[in-house]
Amino acid sequence: MAHLRGAEKRRYVAEMFARISPRYDLMNSLMTGGMHHRWKRTTARLTAQGLCGTALDIATGTGDLAFALSERPGITAAVGVDLLPEMIALAEAKAAAGNRHGAKANFIVGDALRLPFADGTFCCATAGFSLRNMVDVSAAVNEMARVVSPGGRVTTLELTPMPAGWRATLGRVYFHKVVPLLGELVAGDRSAYTYLPSSVDYFLTADGLAEAFRAAGLTNVGYRRLGMGAVAIHYGEKPGR
Ligand SMILES: C[S@@+](CC[C@H](N)C(=O)[O-])C[C@H]1O[C@@H](n2cnc3c(N)ncnc32)[C@H](O)[C@@H]1O
Repeated sequence: MAHLRGAEKRRYVAEMFARISPRYDLMNSLMTGGMHHRWKRTTARLTAQGLCGTALDIATGTGDLAFALSERPGITAAVGVDLLPEMIALAEAKAAAGNRHGAKANFIVGDALRLPFADGTFCCATAGFSLRNMVDVSAAVNEMARVVSPGGRVTTLELTPMPAGWRATLGRVYFHKVVPLLGELVAGDRSAYTYLPSSVDYFLTADGLAEAFRAAGLTNVGYRRLGMGAVAIHYGEKPGR
């Protein structure tokens, strides 16, 4: 299903995430051995450093990256946007539980490809494990760049194809054999967790994603790899301050 494009992909992705939303957090923790929390904290730290104001997290899912941003010094509030009411309800439930600095994190349903915000609204914007699921990656990066103010930062945390070598071989076995099995046993949804590794195969390389950042007008673009090379944090700045 990772080969789908346009409206077909959008429908497939929305139905799939709505289906797996109740087990989404548990599956993330199992698949990454809990590392996704650390990666999100690292992303939030790199994104917010030296900046003051409101942060945006697109395709926020259950809100972890928005919460991590809201906990950074200088960040006065974080806004998480997701296409699915099911995901936003889970994020709001976490915020209401009160142990995640909920007062500084707010969540709304919205489309990352047509953000309902004026130019320059935020000091920074992030996207966690979501660009692969977008029908138009460049449009998503362009939108993030548009709503960030000059001098602000755009950052993504994403699974990208691993550089060739033994790690990539090991990674393929893990993602294509172990992850679908976990998905079947824990989430009762093998097909969703078969889509996940395939979506990485169809996604941009880390260099390709950096190019999309530059094409969106961002400067000082770079990336660093985490998780044995399976995960990349990309960053760029909006010029003009
Ligand atoms: C893999 S989850 C990532 C959730 C969260 N960012 C994280 O790091 O755990 C992908 C999310 O992207 C959302 N999504 C996909 N396309 C979207 C779009 N066009 N606009 C907003 N959200 C979108 C899905 O609803 C889903 O919650």
